[in-house]
Amino acid sequence: MNTNGWDKASISAIAQELKDQPGALMVILRRIQDELGWIPQPSVPLIADALNLSRAEVHGVISFYHDFRDHPPGRHVLRLCRAESCQAMGAVALARHVKDRLGIDFGQTTADGRITLDAVYCLGNCACSPAITMDDDIYGRVSPAKIDKLLESLE
Ligand code: FES
Repeated sequence: MNTNGWDKASISAIAQELKDQPGALMVILRRIQDELGWIPQPSVPLIADALNLSRAEVHGVISFYHDFRDHPPGRHVLRLCRAESCQAMGAVALARHVKDRLGIDFGQTTADGRITLDAVYCLGNCACSPAITMDDDIYGRVSPAKIDKLLESLE
């Protein structure tokens, strides 16, 4: 993932490559997000042109799915599960703890650009609720103490 740079040519190349795929809009947005970590606003008209959609349609999809990010993430992305099983096993208190510790809410990034906190609705790890991911790693049975240790271990 490269969150530091992007250019219109690479966005256009992705849109042109994938524009004929079934569900092309989602496929293109997913690819851009995977490659950059976010979807830069100037990519909206490029995608709209490639798919013959309005800019509002493309923007609407980006803003509807909270998985799509319209700003660069922090160096680390912490995703905390807020779905039923995790809620029943302490995710509400865990979320409160994390938000207090980081001083941010869901969808925000710490002022130093270190951590972005996202909500997620089931990580497929319900047997080990409450669950989180930190970057590409998944963790289960997460307590406030465990998450503190994890946060302290990050660069
Ligand atoms: S409900 Fe949290 S991992 Fe499934």
